Amino acid sequence: MNFHVLTLFPEMILEACNNSILKRAMEKKLLSIDAVNIRDYTLDKHGKVDDYTYGGGAGMLMQAQPVYDAWCHVAGRIERDQVDSTEIIGADAKAVAEANGGAKQKKKPRTIYVTPQGRVFTQEVAKEFSKEEELIFLCGHYEGIDERVLDEIVTDRISIGDYVLTGGELPALVMMDAISRLVPGVLGSEESAQTESFENDLLEYPQYSRPEVWHGKAVPEVLLKGDHMKIEAWRLEAAKERTKTWRPDLYEKYFEKEQTIKRLMKQKKENAYLIDSLLTGKARLLHTMGNAAIALATNDITYMICCETKEEGEALLAYVPEDARLLLHNCAQLNDFLRERYGFTVGDECYQSVYTQHTAMPVAHKDIRPYPISNIDYAVENYGGEEEREYLQDRIQKGEFFAAYENDEIAGFCGVHSSGSLGLLYVDPKYRRTSIGSSLASYLVNWSLERGGLPYAHIRVKNIASLKMQEKMGLYVGKRTVFWTYRKEKEEE
Ligand code: ADE
Repeated sequence: MNFHVLTLFPEMILEACNNSILKRAMEKKLLSIDAVNIRDYTLDKHGKVDDYTYGGGAGMLMQAQPVYDAWCHVAGRIERDQVDSTEIIGADAKAVAEANGGAKQKKKPRTIYVTPQGRVFTQEVAKEFSKEEELIFLCGHYEGIDERVLDEIVTDRISIGDYVLTGGELPALVMMDAISRLVPGVLGSEESAQTESFENDLLEYPQYSRPEVWHGKAVPEVLLKGDHMKIEAWRLEAAKERTKTWRPDLYEKYFEKEQTIKRLMKQKKENAYLIDSLLTGKARLLHTMGNAAIALATNDITYMICCETKEEGEALLAYVPEDARLLLHNCAQLNDFLRERYGFTVGDECYQSVYTQHTAMPVAHKDIRPYPISNIDYAVENYGGEEEREYLQDRIQKGEFFAAYENDEIAGFCGVHSSGSLGLLYVDPKYRRTSIGSSLASYLVNWSLERGGLPYAHIRVKNIASLKMQEKMGLYVGKRTVFWTYRKEKEEE
């Protein structure tokens, strides 16, 4: 992740980032932070960057020219780093950006203007930004910045809350800190980013360290006994209690989600994909109607509907925007309507197999580990070819792809799809008819259980062999199929 901050006070940014976790992440090359002084780009011979506002009013406004030129410098550099074009090396930075369409280029780098007038920054927004490679922050001062340059370069206007600060540097630092800790590897253990406040619409539970009694107050007994199930249950209750008291708005969201999961659980085998996504925080609930519900996956692309009747499905489609591209549902009667009214076509029809127990499955083959990125070619060759490289790379980097080893050689692999379904299974011909295939599948089931999920897989209706294997392993196959539907692009038609 590379942060670029356009500011009048670069030292304020650099000094604040040169400590603790951010400093370590920069040393490990997981982050880079570059602060660009807007004043260095002014054409005014006295170094001025502000002027009076037209129409009168108190205070000064930052002018368009220095802001635009500083932005072009950064955007041009990002583009140069991305596009290997020897022609433009050494050319003037502004010319580079403009040769590539300048601010009007097709894909502007994500440019965040920090302003009290923006969308409010939340953990969800932090997650969204953490998926970018490059982020530019634009920090205003005085009364703000000339609107014309903002229109040209800004992609997002973000506020850190309903109060006004003297400048954009502190809000930019707050955001950079929250985004950085979501970048894989920045925090010591992946887990710490997942179990903390807001991750499940709950505040974090209280924590205690030594001594056991301090100022007459004892650490809750359950935490001293080492029974992990009881500790987890206590922590959940404590988190609920404090969320209810301190953040009733958040608790309402949590409660609605819990109630929806309970209702969906009545048809576990039919609704597994939505239940699992809500349980593991891979989707955000958009609306519930009786036992039917719609959610949007955290990839912001996949809409998921669970319903029993066409009427419920049609009503829930009101929450799917015009430009949506992917929809997963489990109501065969909805397909005609989806095609005629929304232009959605069925890509895959699948059976859904679900592991309904809470106990871990036995895994016969012991040597299963996270898949090494250095061996990606083997996975690409054996799972879909070059077209799948980027997807497999993402799965490996997210730590959701695993290899089984035999004599230190990869004997097969498996993984979790970005939608949450278990699969991506392959066993090397040398090791077929051994326990490796079922071990990989059981390993995935346990992986999902450990994360509080409902393990499930989607199997194309024609893949009889895989269905049989799932049933043999003790997974239940639902009666109704699920439909992966997508909007056909114009050129595909
Ligand atoms: N600049 C001044 N106040 C701000 C705020 N609350 N959020 C973002 N940027 C700001």
